[in-house]
Amino acid sequence: MTKTWLVTGTSSGFGRELATLLAQQTDVNLIATARKMSDLDYLDNFDHGQIAKALLDVTNVDQIATIVNLAQDRFGGLDVLVNNAGLGYFATIEESDDAAVRHMFDVNVFGLAAMTKAVLPIMRRQKSGTIVNLSSALGLVTLPTMGYYSATKFAVEGYSEALQQEVADLGIDVMIVEPSGARTNWAGKSSQKDVPTIADYAQFKDQVAGTNASAGSEPGDPEVIAQLIFEQVTAVTPTPKHLPLGHFASAGSQAHLTTLLAEIKALSSLSDSADHA
Ligand SMILES: NC(=O)c1ccc[n+]([C@@H]2O[C@H](COP(=O)([O-])OP(=O)(O)OC[C@H]3O[C@@H](n4cnc5c(N)ncnc54)[C@H](OP(=O)(O)O)[C@@H]3O)[C@@H](O)[C@H]2O)c1
Repeated sequence: MTKTWLVTGTSSGFGRELATLLAQQTDVNLIATARKMSDLDYLDNFDHGQIAKALLDVTNVDQIATIVNLAQDRFGGLDVLVNNAGLGYFATIEESDDAAVRHMFDVNVFGLAAMTKAVLPIMRRQKSGTIVNLSSALGLVTLPTMGYYSATKFAVEGYSEALQQEVADLGIDVMIVEPSGARTNWAGKSSQKDVPTIADYAQFKDQVAGTNASAGSEPGDPEVIAQLIFEQVTAVTPTPKHLPLGHFASAGSQAHLTTLLAEIKALSSLSDSADHA
C-alpha cells in the first residue's frame, strides 16, 4: 500500500538522502520540503507524479498549515512525518549568544513540536502514523561546548518519550533517531561557532575553532543513516522507540547511562527519604 511521507529539511544531509531514497520507491508519495525551492531540483530526476515539493521553514506556522493541507488534499492523508530540520551551535554555556540559542530552540524544538501538533489530528483520524524525530547522540550524552545544542536534543527526547506514551493506543508510533557525527552540512554551515574568549575556557578553543576544518570527516554516512531510518519505519515491527546510530551514540550513551544508573542507585535510600513517611 502506498504511504505518504513528509520530510523537513531535505535540502541537504540526512533529509536529502532520505528524500532521494523515498523518491525512488514506487509505493511512496513524498512531500519534500526546504527553505529554498531550488534546493529541491535534485528530485526532478525521480518525479513520476508522486512527489510534491514545497517551501517550509519550520518556524513559519503559515507554511506548516499549508504543507499539512497539501498532504491532505493531494495525497489524502499522511503516514510518516520525519522531523529532520535542525541546526547546531558550538560555544561554552557562559559564552553562548542568547539570540543564537533561542533561534536553535525555535528550529530544533518548537519547529519540530509545531509540525507534530499539525499532523497529529490527521494521524489520529487515520488511527495510524509514524513520527520520526531527529534527536542526536548528543540528546543522550553531552560534551563541553555542546551544552545548548544538547539541551535542544534532550528536549526532543523528553517531548518524544511523553508523546510515545500519549499516542501508543491511537495507532501512532514515535521513533527518536540519535545519530553520531555524520558527514552533512551540520557541523559546517549549519552551525554557528563562538570560539571561547574567556581565558578560563581556553582548553575548549581548539575544539570550537577546529570544527569547520574537521567537518566532512565525521564517521557517520548519511546515506546509510537514511537507509536505516527507512528500514526501521517500513520493515520493523514494532517500530523502535529509540534508534541510536553510530559507535558514539551506542558506546557513548551506554557509558553515560551506566554511570548515571550507578549514581542513582547509590542514592536510592536518600532519594526515597524525600517522600512523606
Ligand atoms: N550530522 C550530524 O552529525 C548529526 C548528528 C546527530 C543529529 N543530527 C541532526 O540531524 C538533523 C539533520 O541535520 P543534518 O546533519 O542532515 O545537517 P544539514 O545537512 O545541515 O541539514 C539540516 C537541514 O535542516 C534545514 N533547516 C535548518 N533550519 C531550518 C528551518 N528553520 N526550517 C526548515 N529547515 C531548516 C536545512 O535547510 P537549509 O539548507 O535551508 O539550511 C537542512 O535542510 C538535524 O536535526 C541535526 O541536528 C545531525
